[in-house]
Amino acid sequence: MRLDLRNLINVDGRLTYRFVKEGQEWDISIDFHRDFAVNQSALGKKQLFSKALGLSKKSDLRILDATAGLLGDSFLMSCWGAQVIALEREKVLYLLGQDALERGLQNPKISSFVKNIRLFHKDSRLFLRNFQGPSFDVIYLDPMFPPKKKRSLPPKSAQFLQAHLDGDEEEARELFAMAIQKALRVVVKRPLGIPPLIERPHHQFRGKSIRYDMYLP
Ligand SMILES: C[S@@+](CC[C@H](N)C(=O)[O-])C[C@H]1O[C@@H](n2cnc3c(N)ncnc32)[C@H](O)[C@@H]1O
Repeated sequence: MRLDLRNLINVDGRLTYRFVKEGQEWDISIDFHRDFAVNQSALGKKQLFSKALGLSKKSDLRILDATAGLLGDSFLMSCWGAQVIALEREKVLYLLGQDALERGLQNPKISSFVKNIRLFHKDSRLFLRNFQGPSFDVIYLDPMFPPKKKRSLPPKSAQFLQAHLDGDEEEARELFAMAIQKALRVVVKRPLGIPPLIERPHHQFRGKSIRYDMYLP
């Protein structure tokens, strides 16, 4: 199932991707305000994710989110004070993200975070190949991973991405090889039980179902 621009519709002022999975209609849109309200506990700076990024110690980091997806991780980084450049190569996801950013800027409760995210429709490998600026403090990679049998059902947003996108480990390794040359730290998100994308991370931050592998150049 590929992402199809024709499935984008407007629902209550939100750009929404409507598709059918196992006979059921699903609507996917991004709403930072809802996530912000629901995820207050995830915003604590002692979270594994903020530690892996280095944001628990220093907040004003320049981070490249090279696999932006539905911008959930970019939003967390921006809430912790980072300046985020987010890149997404799938046009549908880029458009959903751009719509959510525009709405977020109009919402005084979250606009101060949302303004720290700049989203571009681009393949990160192309971006990094041409990038001449100073190294990023962190480049973050959350590539799709190969499906694992018997995993319990992930959240709806992750199921949506899994239904439409393939995980290509070789492509992700190619992206990593470029990232490690343009960052002071690279962080790769992986499910537990799947080997690191690249062997011998400098450090692993382990959660209950996922871990963050941290690499230094
Ligand atoms: C698992 S999702 C990321 C989810 C994201 N962290 C979030 O919070 O929603 C992986 C995303 O990376 C994108 N992606 C993979 N390789 C990419 C590349 N080389 N350049 C840009 N985007 C890429 C895919 O299209 C997909 O949307």
